Amino acid sequence: MKVFVSRRIPEKVIGFLEEQGLEVIYNNSDQKMQQSDLIAACKKTDLLLNVGSVGLNAYFMESCKHLKGIALTSVGYDHVDLKAAAHYGIPVSNTPDVLSKTTADTAFLLMLATSRKAFFRAGQIEKGEWKDKGFLYELGTEINGKTLGIFGLGRIGAEFARMARAAFGMHIIYNNRSRNAKAEKLVDARYVGFDELLEESDVLSVHTNLTSETQYRFNRDCFRKMKKTSIFINTARGKIHHESDLITALEEREIWGAGLDVTDPEPMLPDNPLLQMSNVCVLPHIGSATLETRTAMATMAAKNLVAVFKGEKMPQAINS
Ligand code: DGY
Repeated sequence: MKVFVSRRIPEKVIGFLEEQGLEVIYNNSDQKMQQSDLIAACKKTDLLLNVGSVGLNAYFMESCKHLKGIALTSVGYDHVDLKAAAHYGIPVSNTPDVLSKTTADTAFLLMLATSRKAFFRAGQIEKGEWKDKGFLYELGTEINGKTLGIFGLGRIGAEFARMARAAFGMHIIYNNRSRNAKAEKLVDARYVGFDELLEESDVLSVHTNLTSETQYRFNRDCFRKMKKTSIFINTARGKIHHESDLITALEEREIWGAGLDVTDPEPMLPDNPLLQMSNVCVLPHIGSATLETRTAMATMAAKNLVAVFKGEKMPQAINS
C-alpha cells in the first residue's frame, strides 16, 4: 500500500512507515498544501497522513473515495467531514492523550502570563519603554487560591486543573455536557451549571471540541455574567468564543483579561485590537508544539495507518 504524508514530520516516523512495508510518498515541505494539490497527490495513494489542519470536506472525500484510511495529526477534527468519510467507508483517526499535558502547559502559561500582563510588559523592553512608571502601574492579579472554572473537563482540562491545584491550590469547578466522575475525583472538582461557572470562576478555561453546540458559546451575555476580575483562557478553538464580543467585554472592563492560543480566523491579523491590550496574551496556536509531542502525534497517526495496512481497525478511529 502507498501512503501520502502531506507535510514535513520527524524522519524517524517516515522510517517507521517504511519498515512496516508501506511505500511512502512524502511532501517533505513545511508549506501547508492546498486542498486541490492534496487531492491530486492522494489519487496515487491508498492512505493519507494529513499533517496539520488542511480541511478535508465532503468534496475531498468524494474526490478521494478510494482512500482506505486517513490519519490526522491533531486531537481536534472540526476541519474534517467525518460523516462524508464514513459515507465512503473511509476510517479516520485522531491523536488523543499524547498532547494533553503539552496543551495543558500552554493553558497554564497563558494563565500566568495574562495574570501578570507579561507579554505587554516584555514588549515594552524592546520598544525602549522599560521606565519607572509608578508603584501602581499596570499591576497584575494573583492566581493563588483562586477558583479555576473548566469548560470541558476531559483529558486536557483535567490535566490543567491538576497542575493549577498542585501549583496554586486553586479550587476547581467545571461544566461539561455530562459529569466526569473520574476526573472530578482526581482533581477534587465540583460540577456546576453553565451560569454558575461563569459567575464563580476567577479564571475560566475552555477545553472542549468545536461543534455546532459549542460554536460562539462564549458571547457578550456570558462575559457580562463573569466576574469583572476574571481571566478568560482558550486553548481549544477560536470559534468557541465570539471574538468581537470578547474585545468589547475587555474594552468595557466586563472581564479583567484574556489568554488565547486559538483565534478566529487563524492566523490573527496583526492589527487586531487584542494585540494592543496590556491584559491580553495571544499565542499562535502552539498548544501541542514541542518536539516530543509532535513526534508522538505523528507516530500515533502512522500507527493508525499501519493498522489499516494490516487489515486491523484503527486504534484511534473517530468515525466508526
Ligand atoms: C489539536 O490537536 O487539535 C491541536 O489544536 C493542534 O495543535
